[in-house]
Amino acid sequence: MISKPLQVAVNEQINFELFSAYLYLSMSAHFESQNLPGFASWTRIQYQEETGHAMKLYRYLIDRNGAVTLKAIDQPATKFKTPLDIFKQILEHEQKVTVRIHKLYELASKEKDYAAEIFLQWFVNEQVEEEKNAGDIIAMLEMIGDSPVSVIMADRQLGARK
Ligand code: FEO
Repeated sequence: MISKPLQVAVNEQINFELFSAYLYLSMSAHFESQNLPGFASWTRIQYQEETGHAMKLYRYLIDRNGAVTLKAIDQPATKFKTPLDIFKQILEHEQKVTVRIHKLYELASKEKDYAAEIFLQWFVNEQVEEEKNAGDIIAMLEMIGDSPVSVIMADRQLGARK
């Protein structure tokens, strides 16, 4: 059975992953409104990934005989600026997620919950990828600039994400 403090923290992380999903979906809707289907697709796929992260934690709590407690999800931003600004915002958000995952891992360690530590290693590695993905796109957007042709090229590139 999972400890009470860890159960509370995992529930908080489920909520934050769902908030992340919501934020990406809001960004996707923004890109749709800007006629940027590739950016919209990329952020919509990310929305699905975040839901997957929440469900991984959800399933884990249940498998460990913990109780899932779903709380209200904060409203995400609805106004956004340029694609570059949005990807900077994404990187900042993912860095916040990384800090939270590391705290969760530290708690599992403190509670001597070895199974939870091993489970959370997946999230630790996932955050390396999440930050790298956002960083790579920022680098590309900075390199190509923000002319309409550049943005359309980047839109095509991001639309290739499966
Ligand atoms: Fe679930 Fe993007 O971290």
